[in-house]
Amino acid sequence: MTRILMVCLGNICRSPLAHGVMESKLPEDLFYVDSAGTGAYHIGNPPDHRSIKVARNHGLDISTQSARQFKVSDFDTFDYIFAMDQSNYNNIVSLARNNADIGKVKLFLEENTSISNKNVPDPYYGDMRDFEHVFYLIKNTSELIASKLIKANR
Ligand code: 4NP
Repeated sequence: MTRILMVCLGNICRSPLAHGVMESKLPEDLFYVDSAGTGAYHIGNPPDHRSIKVARNHGLDISTQSARQFKVSDFDTFDYIFAMDQSNYNNIVSLARNNADIGKVKLFLEENTSISNKNVPDPYYGDMRDFEHVFYLIKNTSELIASKLIKANR
């Protein structure tokens, strides 16, 4: 079983979308996907209603997810930890205990060579267009990552 964690700040806007989309791209018998936030503001909350809506518009139900905070033991649980932006990346790496921990952390958009800005923008203070934009960034990049992971798993 390969374990993948998607991480943003609040775990209510971006990483719940990445969690739902990536899960939909990978065979569930071989991959486990989860998400977390580096911040504690929204622990226990469902995803933002706009993330739920944009996911539903694309055929995905993320409404049952519940926000949690990233914890040091996630370095033991997960094989790949994808940060939605550089600030999340820095927050995660600051909790690493050793180089093996650091080696698991990737900037999500680093996997998408057709995009030069490597930060998934935080749509929290935006509108539905911002959430749609984030959804497409996440969808396109998740497809690239999923096909790599499936190949590596063969
Ligand atoms: P996310 O968006 O990191 O994509 O879940 C945010 C949601 C809430 C806050 C920040 C970012 N907040 O500061 O409350």
